[in-house]
Amino acid sequence: MKHIKPIIFALILGAGMAFSCQNNDDSEPKEISKSDDKILQKADSILGLMTLDEKIGQLNQYSVGAEMTGPGDKGSTSQKRYEMLLNGEVGSVLNLLGAENTYKLQKQVVEQSRLGIPLIFAYDVVHGYKTMFPLPLAESCSWNLDLMQQSAAVAAKEAASAGLQWTFAPMVDVSVDARWGRVMEGAGEDPYLGSLIAQARVKGFQGNDLSSNNTIAACAKHFAGYGFVESGKDYNNVNINKHELLNRILPPFKDAAQVDVATFMNAFNDMLGIPSTGNSYLLREKLRQDWGYEGVVVSDWNSIGEMVNHGTVEDLKGAAKEAIIAGSDIDMEADAYSKYLKELVENKTVDISLINEAVSRVLVLKYKLGLFEDPYKYADSARENKELLSQENLAVSREMASESIVLLKNETNLLPLNKKKRVAVIGPLAKDKDAPLGNWRAAAQSNTAVSFYEGLKSALGQEAMISYAKGCDLSIGPNNFFDELEINETDKSGFSEAMAKASNAEVVFMVLGEPAYMSGEGRSRSNIGLPGVQLDLLKEVYKVNKNIVLVLMNGRPLTLEWEHENIPTILETWHLGSEAGNAIADVITGQVNPSGKLTMSFPRNVGQVPIYYNHKTSGRPSTAPGQVFYTHHTDVDNSPLFPFGFGLSYSEFEYGELKLSKKALEAENDSIVVSIAVSNKSKVDGNEIVQLYIQDEVGSITRPVKELKGFEKVAIAAGETKQVSFTIKPENLAYYRRDFTYGTEPGSFKVLIGASSAVSNYKTFTLK
Ligand code: BGC
Repeated sequence: MKHIKPIIFALILGAGMAFSCQNNDDSEPKEISKSDDKILQKADSILGLMTLDEKIGQLNQYSVGAEMTGPGDKGSTSQKRYEMLLNGEVGSVLNLLGAENTYKLQKQVVEQSRLGIPLIFAYDVVHGYKTMFPLPLAESCSWNLDLMQQSAAVAAKEAASAGLQWTFAPMVDVSVDARWGRVMEGAGEDPYLGSLIAQARVKGFQGNDLSSNNTIAACAKHFAGYGFVESGKDYNNVNINKHELLNRILPPFKDAAQVDVATFMNAFNDMLGIPSTGNSYLLREKLRQDWGYEGVVVSDWNSIGEMVNHGTVEDLKGAAKEAIIAGSDIDMEADAYSKYLKELVENKTVDISLINEAVSRVLVLKYKLGLFEDPYKYADSARENKELLSQENLAVSREMASESIVLLKNETNLLPLNKKKRVAVIGPLAKDKDAPLGNWRAAAQSNTAVSFYEGLKSALGQEAMISYAKGCDLSIGPNNFFDELEINETDKSGFSEAMAKASNAEVVFMVLGEPAYMSGEGRSRSNIGLPGVQLDLLKEVYKVNKNIVLVLMNGRPLTLEWEHENIPTILETWHLGSEAGNAIADVITGQVNPSGKLTMSFPRNVGQVPIYYNHKTSGRPSTAPGQVFYTHHTDVDNSPLFPFGFGLSYSEFEYGELKLSKKALEAENDSIVVSIAVSNKSKVDGNEIVQLYIQDEVGSITRPVKELKGFEKVAIAAGETKQVSFTIKPENLAYYRRDFTYGTEPGSFKVLIGASSAVSNYKTFTLK
C-alpha cells in the first residue's frame, strides 16, 4: 500500500482483498451477489470523513485528455477541471489513455486532494483496446460464448495495462432495426442470445477478480430501450409497450446484473414517456428493487443535461434533482451534479441519504477495483509495452475474426478458392487498412488492420496471380469519429480499369461495404444498401465476369437484393479488426471452414424494417396465394433476405427427425428432452450451430411466432452424424404475462430444431 493518505489508509486496513472474491465461475449465479459487509463499512467510514462537496465530487465524471495531467491555460475549462480534480471534486474520468498519463494524474489527485481518494479511469473499450477485435455484432455471429469471453478478456488485459479500470461495454441493447447505426455494437435481435453474450462479455472484462490488474469493470448499457429508437434514428424517442420492454429489452440487462456487472449506463432515450436517466421505474423499481442490483449507475454523455431537451424538467437543476432521485449515481459530462446537488441538498429538495447511497456505491467500486490498496496498480508502462498488440492477442483476434464471418451464398462453389486460379481483387475496401478497425477503435491507430489484399496475398504466396483495381472511391471526405462522412456518389472513372482486370481473371473478389464510420454512434441510415457507386461498379464488373465472390465489410445488415439474385458467392465479413485480412483469407482458402450465423435478419428492402424472426403472428398471418387482405406488403415477400440464425458452411449438414422424450410437462421440475440427428454429408469437417426454437401457441398476450431457447455449436466430421439434444423445462417457457407477472401459462407449444430461424418442421408438447 503506497501513496494513500494516512487517514484513508487506516480506514481500509483490514479490508484487504476480501472484497475482490466474486463468484464468477461458469455456473450461472441465481442471485445477484451483495457487497461484502466489510467493504460497505469501509465505504461508510470514508463517507463519514467527507464534506458534501467531496461527496458530490465522487459523482462527477469528466472527459479529460493528456493536457489534464497539468494545469491548463488560465481561465480555461481545462484549468477549472484540473483544480476540481485536485480538490477531490471529480470521482472518475474518461478518455485519458496510457499508463504514463493515468499514473501522472492519479498521483496528483491522490497526493493533493484532501482525502486522496483515487480516480477511476474509464474508456469505451468496446471491441478491443489496441488489438482490435471484430465489431460486437460480428462476434455475436460466432455464437461462440467462450471465444467472446476471451476476446473481452484480452481487451481488458490491454486496457488495464494502459491504466484503465472501467469500460463502457458491453452494449446489451437488443435491436431489430438495421437503420440504427449502433447495431454494430450489440449482439443482434434476440434477447436470449443477447443475454448469454452479455454475460460472456461481462465475465471476460471482469474475470474472477475485479481487483486484478488484468481485469476491468464492465458496464451494461444503455438502460434501457436505446435499440428501439423510432425509425432507427439515433437519439430518437422510443415508443414501446411495457410487455415488450420486459420480454424483449430487459432480459440481457437482468442477466448482466446476475453475473455482477459492476456498472450500468443510462440510455439517451425516453422509456414509457420518461427519459431513462430520470426514470425511477427502470432504475429503482426494476434495477434496484426487483433485481437487487447494488452496482453503480452512470449517466450517458450529458444525458442528465438532455433531460431538459426531452422536456420533462425545466432546467439543469431540475434534471440533477430528477436524475439523483431516480437513481443515476454518476453524472457524465453534464455538470449538473457539480453545479446543483449541493444547493438541492441544502434546501432539502434532495435528501442527503440519496447522495450517501450513490457515493457509497462509487467507493465500493473503487475498493473492488483494488484502487484503495494501490491506486497505481493498473498503470504500468513496461506491462503496457509488452501487452499491447502482442502476438498472443493478435492470434485471439484472428481466431475470433474467422469465426465471425458468415457465408451467405456459395452457389457455384467458388469458395474455398482453388489457389491455382487467376484472381482479380477489386473494390474500394480491398486494400483499405482502416475500415476493418471498426468504429469504436479505442487506442488503435488508423490504417493498421491487415487489409483483404494483404491477407489474401500472404495466404496465396508469392507466385499467386492477383491483379488489383480499386474501381471507385468510397468515402471521400474526412474519415474520423466526429465528422459526417462524404460518400462518392458520382465518380466512376475507375470502373474501366476494374472491368479490364476482371475480364482477365478466373475469379473476381469484389470487396465492398461501409467505411468504419458509417455505422456506430450518430451513423443511422435511411437506405442501407451498398453506399455510393459500389453497386454500379459491381453490376459493370458482373457484365464482364460472373465468377464473383462478393466480400462485404459493413457494420449492419444491408439490403442486398440485386447482389443476392446475381452474385454466386457472398461472404459477410463485417469489420473484423486488426487481423481482418488474414482471417478472411483463412476462410477463403478453406483453412477455416466458415461457421458463423447471422444474429440480425437482413431485410430485402428498407421498407421491411423493422424485421425480426421473433415477431408476433398478427390477426391475419395468412400467406395463401392470391389473398389480398392479410399482413403483408404488396411489393415484397414477408420473409427477410437472410433470416436470423442463417449461415452456410463448406460442409453440408442434414437434419434428421425431431424426437421428443414425452408429450407433456407435468410439474415445475419436469423436463422434456428434444433431440435430432445432424449429419455432415460432405467431405469436409465442419461446425454447425444447431438451434432450438419454441412457439407458445396461446398466451395471455400475443406471443412471438418463434423464440430461440437453446443452441449448440457442434463439430461434425465429414461423413459423421451427431445426436444433438436439448432439455426443455417449464422455466424456459416463462415470460411477462398479461398482468406483468413473470411465469408460465399452461397450453400447447411447438418445438423446432434447425439450421436457422426459418426452420419449419415442428412437434408439439403441452405444459400442464
Ligand atoms: C455513448 C456511450 C459512451 C459514452 C462515452 C456516449 O455518447 O452513447 O455509449 O459510452 O458516449 O464515450
